[in-house]
Amino acid sequence: MIDLKKCTVYQIYPKSFCDSNGDGIGDIRGIIGKLDYIQSLGADYIWCTPFFTSPLRDNGYDVEDYRNINPVFGTMEDVEALIAGAEERGMGLMLDMVFNHTSTRHEWFKRALAGEQKYMDYYIFRDGGPDKPPTNWQSKFGGPAWEYVPSLQKWYLHLFDVTQADLNWNNPEVRQELKNIVLFWKSKGVKGFRFDVVNLISKPDVFEDDNIGDGKRFYSDGPRVHEFLKELVADTGIEDMITVGEMSSTSLANCLKYSNPKEKELSMCFNFHHLKVDYKDGNKWELMKPDYRRLRDLFAVWQTEMERKNGWMAVFWCNHDQPRIVSRFGDDKKYWKESAKMLATFIHLLRGTPYIYQGEELGMTNAGYSSIDEYRDVESINYYHILLKKGKTRERALEILRQRSRDNGRSPMQWNSGRYGGFSVTEPWIGLPDNYKWINVAAEDRDEDSILNYYRALVELRKQHKIIQEGRIEFLLLKPEEIFAYKRVLYGQELLVLNNFSGKNVPLCKPIPYSEHSCLISNYNQAENNQGRAIKSLRPYESIAFYGKY
Ligand code: GLC
Ligand code: CA
Repeated sequence: MIDLKKCTVYQIYPKSFCDSNGDGIGDIRGIIGKLDYIQSLGADYIWCTPFFTSPLRDNGYDVEDYRNINPVFGTMEDVEALIAGAEERGMGLMLDMVFNHTSTRHEWFKRALAGEQKYMDYYIFRDGGPDKPPTNWQSKFGGPAWEYVPSLQKWYLHLFDVTQADLNWNNPEVRQELKNIVLFWKSKGVKGFRFDVVNLISKPDVFEDDNIGDGKRFYSDGPRVHEFLKELVADTGIEDMITVGEMSSTSLANCLKYSNPKEKELSMCFNFHHLKVDYKDGNKWELMKPDYRRLRDLFAVWQTEMERKNGWMAVFWCNHDQPRIVSRFGDDKKYWKESAKMLATFIHLLRGTPYIYQGEELGMTNAGYSSIDEYRDVESINYYHILLKKGKTRERALEILRQRSRDNGRSPMQWNSGRYGGFSVTEPWIGLPDNYKWINVAAEDRDEDSILNYYRALVELRKQHKIIQEGRIEFLLLKPEEIFAYKRVLYGQELLVLNNFSGKNVPLCKPIPYSEHSCLISNYNQAENNQGRAIKSLRPYESIAFYGKY
């Protein structure tokens, strides 16, 4: 079994990674052409978001056929070549299994709509008149979570877009179908899986109105979710592979169970609590400055509890659903480089498996779209209209999207300073910010001091140091709260990691003795500034990791 504690995962959003055939859309051949680059980062696994047949209403998270490839992205031969090419370079491919729902274009759903009982039982249909949905639950993309089908005089549940119908996991035949899909991809040589919103798969027995929320408390970490996961894993024999579950609005107690090896569920999970510290009253569509105190506390609690109860976390800042981290918790202007490196240090030396999302390793920023026509994401477009309906001005709605839209993470990967950033020879399906002229792979590859080379160093440090892989974690809740400090401890060794999450000089409450030999990595030149002296304060977004034996 591979040692996940040493590994780093690189995430690819194929549509925005690299276009090989000049249609403006990234594709699998494009990824194959960049495998050497991904290897140069030291990545052990590549997680690709879905490229299966799909109408792409939600860019592939609306799957029409789990065993075929969307021609826009390539062919099955291309995927086989991708698996082989990764393998040759010592990397494993992880596929994204979207098992909470299918596209309404999936064969099963079409047959359900045609009234075939067998397939109606694959989904969640409820009786009712056209005027009153079975419950008042809200879709995560806005609007009601139920859609009426006049010909059947029934409603079906869709927690996401109306074209993404939720599957009925209580039906053993559905579970068998999904296991067969996992087995199909496993036999192709795929090395791991990411399970999309997998803590939403078990719905309650009774559907009732939610008078205090959108319904999520009834189906998040639902009644049979652990049982379903154990069964899926046991019956497909994937317990020794890398598996990560995306957990939506989950709890620490549940994540401990999902990821404790004894439970034989998953190797690790993603949770998003730390990415909501800038949501006003928990609302993604209301802006607020990040609450750094809360951010630090969340990491402290999750990291220490995960260790104490033998759980394991995926640690990350970015993915295809999130704005870019340097624009969000860093400073994408004055301290662009410093803050991107600091944010990276904080994540990569934690206890857990770090994930790097394409372009994060370059310090890619939010896209800065200024008109609604530049957005492509179904959620962003829906919410733009919802915000206008709620009385926001156009300018305000656009400002909210500029900070919150998922499209911020979906602008094309910036390869070089050429036209369209080297992503494509034609105009891409979604625009890219002008900063590709200096924020790009070619420029950063040459520059020793670049964010890219800093990420490479961090990935390598994890491979070399047992203390990063296995050390105990201890958060030092120092004052002031912008200082995020933690220790990793392993048999007489100690790693101290200090990070300044602010653009100011921040004094430390207690000076730290500095010696050149003990500095493992830093985003400032320490030798020049600190020779033989103690560190009394941290500079803007400064990050230092000290390693020592005692
Ligand atoms: C997950 C995916 C997201 C998708 C949603 C519905 O959150 O990461 O991109 O829209 O699930 O499948
Ligand atoms: Ca293409």
